Amino acid sequence: MTVKASATIVLGAQYGDEGKGKLVDLIAEKAHFVCRVQGGNNAGHTIWVAGKKVVTHLIPSAILRPDCRVGLGAGMVIDPLAWQEEFEMLRSLGVNMNSSRLFVDPRAQIILPYHRLMDRKRESDSATRGASIGTTGRGIGPAYASRAFREGPRVCDLVAEGGLDAFFRKSPHLEEGFDSSVRASFDAIAKMLRPHVRDVASEANDVLDAGQKLLIEGAQGAMLDVAFGSYPYVTSSSLVAGSCPGNLGIPPWRIGNILGVVKAYSTRVGNGPFVGELHGELEEKIRKVGGEFGSTTGRPRRVGWLDLVALRYFVRINGITALSLMKSDVLSGLSEVGLITGYRNRDTGKRFEGWPTSLSETEKVEPELEFCKGWTSVVGVDGTFTDSFRAFVQRVEKFAGIPVAYVSTGPDRNEGHWLTEIF
Ligand code: IMP
Repeated sequence: MTVKASATIVLGAQYGDEGKGKLVDLIAEKAHFVCRVQGGNNAGHTIWVAGKKVVTHLIPSAILRPDCRVGLGAGMVIDPLAWQEEFEMLRSLGVNMNSSRLFVDPRAQIILPYHRLMDRKRESDSATRGASIGTTGRGIGPAYASRAFREGPRVCDLVAEGGLDAFFRKSPHLEEGFDSSVRASFDAIAKMLRPHVRDVASEANDVLDAGQKLLIEGAQGAMLDVAFGSYPYVTSSSLVAGSCPGNLGIPPWRIGNILGVVKAYSTRVGNGPFVGELHGELEEKIRKVGGEFGSTTGRPRRVGWLDLVALRYFVRINGITALSLMKSDVLSGLSEVGLITGYRNRDTGKRFEGWPTSLSETEKVEPELEFCKGWTSVVGVDGTFTDSFRAFVQRVEKFAGIPVAYVSTGPDRNEGHWLTEIF
């Protein structure tokens, strides 16, 4: 059998917030079907359209492109209240939210008020021991835990006759916080959701069988992956490229390009180790110019230099085929720009061979920095990249071992350059 891959993944290659929303929005123009496959409304995908900012948390950001269909895959966790709020927000912007283009897989897990309460309670309990993760508080981890316990309801249960009562009878603790007003909301949401419930896996396979283009919209970032990220300071789902087809329900051999999205610097929101984190004036400046505040929680993002050691590792384990470099314009005007090109053990001074996996090992990492000449602007008056910015891009490509296919030069759809068309 010959293999004809026509699915592309857009994957965050750092700690999330890399600018995947913009990339997906660009590529989705040519896609037939765009799906999210994991996480829930912990994500925040920001798209600027004609100077107007739109943020989606749960529904794939590709919904803003009128000609593609969008799906929420089986691997997701869905808070019905967040679904309703986002649905109404998008509809009020004039977005086509018809059930002929927006589908939800019946196997996706439901986030209940109990899961949100549990998320916040666990966080505040562990904060007293200085061990909180800094979650978004959206109930994401507890909802996945309910799936692992095989006790939580799924979308198919929410929209079924009788609603969730059968689940509450079997697992009474899940009913906490499910008061009469939430019950009434869930009933109304079940009704509006019903026409959208569709086997997203079959739909995705139909699209591929027809030779059409499928795009998987990754959420969060590979360094927050539950297995490969900085455990336990990670999200609760699998984010690596290898898990995307499984969370959607398509064969892995259908995946062709895997586009890794990185900023020209790093940010992290929430707790956990952050190699090369900046402090003081420079951190403040980059945060301010880059608008680095969480799009889901509003928390200030921590800021650091671009970590090429981590990037090379995550390029490898995800099989990233090309990079998309975002927000280089934020660094314009700096006299020099740092890159992390090595890890050393702070106690022994020895170089790390391989990748630090335990928390204690990661906490001992001291970065080796290389500084490139800064750029006054990404693009010069002649419309091409300035020499110093081009040298930065080449350094990133050489270290990561893959090409940069797209460079974003500003927040709007039209601000960016494709160096290689990948879709
Ligand atoms: P949770 O996903 O809400 O459980 O949060 C776990 C960790 O992942 C926290 O550090 C969050 O700040 C982080 N996180 C979750 N979703 C995102 C995202 O979309 N962008 C950036 N960080 C995220």
